[in-house]
Amino acid sequence: MSTETTDPRILADADLPDLPGRYSGKVRENYDLSDGRRVIVATDRLSAFDRILAAIPWKGQVLTGISRFWFERTADICPNHVIAYPDPCVVVARRLAILPVEIVVRGYLAGTTGTSVLTLYRRGERAMYGTRFPDGMRDNERLPAPVITPTSKAFDAGHDEPLTPDGILSAGLLTPDQWETVSAYALALFARGQELAAERGLILADTKYEFGTDGDGRIVLADEIHTPDSSRYWRAETYPARFAAGERPESFDKDFVRDWVAKRCDPYRDPIPTIPADLIEQTSAVYAQAFETITGEPFRPDASGPTPLARVRRNLAAYLGRGEVSPDPERP
Ligand SMILES: Nc1ncnc2c1ncn2[C@@H]1O[C@H](COP(=O)(O)OP(=O)(O)O)[C@@H](O)[C@H]1O
Ligand SMILES: [Mg+2]
Repeated sequence: MSTETTDPRILADADLPDLPGRYSGKVRENYDLSDGRRVIVATDRLSAFDRILAAIPWKGQVLTGISRFWFERTADICPNHVIAYPDPCVVVARRLAILPVEIVVRGYLAGTTGTSVLTLYRRGERAMYGTRFPDGMRDNERLPAPVITPTSKAFDAGHDEPLTPDGILSAGLLTPDQWETVSAYALALFARGQELAAERGLILADTKYEFGTDGDGRIVLADEIHTPDSSRYWRAETYPARFAAGERPESFDKDFVRDWVAKRCDPYRDPIPTIPADLIEQTSAVYAQAFETITGEPFRPDASGPTPLARVRRNLAAYLGRGEVSPDPERP
């Protein structure tokens, strides 16, 4: 992994040997406690091309803070998994059975991946994800109404595949009731997201939700919400002129590490070259700026521990009780 670092600001691995049920995601370290709680630690890892490119100082704190902002402002729309925030990089959540469908909502004809509506539209497709798209649309144009473009959740590093509502039901991925509920939740969450983003001078162009079911089969919002990693934000002020001129909308431009890597190697196969320090710092600044623009609050990196990992251990030990996490792994 290219995140080996001696940078004392960075949280790259979040190894908590005292906690059970570890699952290392691309970005987050997850621990399933025996009582049904899931401890989700957002690291600073930056993922693209299904791998880890780098670690970006404070990224985990930024993503956790932005998710928190949105979980708090959408709790009236649908239940979410949050129990507590014991540390700026940690969510303690209810462990859910994650539904095998990622609910992507798009308000604009945009995107770069193989499953994005823009990619498919440019290829001439008009019937996508069970929706008919009009002819003559231009890149980054607003859709007549937001559409849900579900993809299969790629468990175990598989690839996301586009789905249609009919396909979801006939494959038995969701029950009709579940599909109806997650669709209604997703559109309502997205409408709230667009509304609050607009107050901050932003367009929420698209996003992805993950839902799960609790022990009673109730559908609950999981994972993260409206973060720059799961969403595309544009600056509202410059959108009309740039769209009219056929230019790309202004966004939180955090993709330059990704672009830099893609220019220098086959990012799916080759070793990742060492990324220049100034690119890492610029990316960190963009994430901090995203936090401030989205939430309207100043970003205050929590440097209260010798390292973020030491701080996470300390905060989790205090929250869970020392029997569960030792604040000092050397002396358990
Ligand atoms: N409340 C929850 N219960 C169970 N699993 C969850 C919950 N919230 C998120 N998850 C899962 O935890 C993982 C979060 O870590 P992440 O780095 O995003 O992993 P991944 O590489 O699988 O996307 C994801 O697989 C996500 O689906
Ligand atoms: Mg994920």
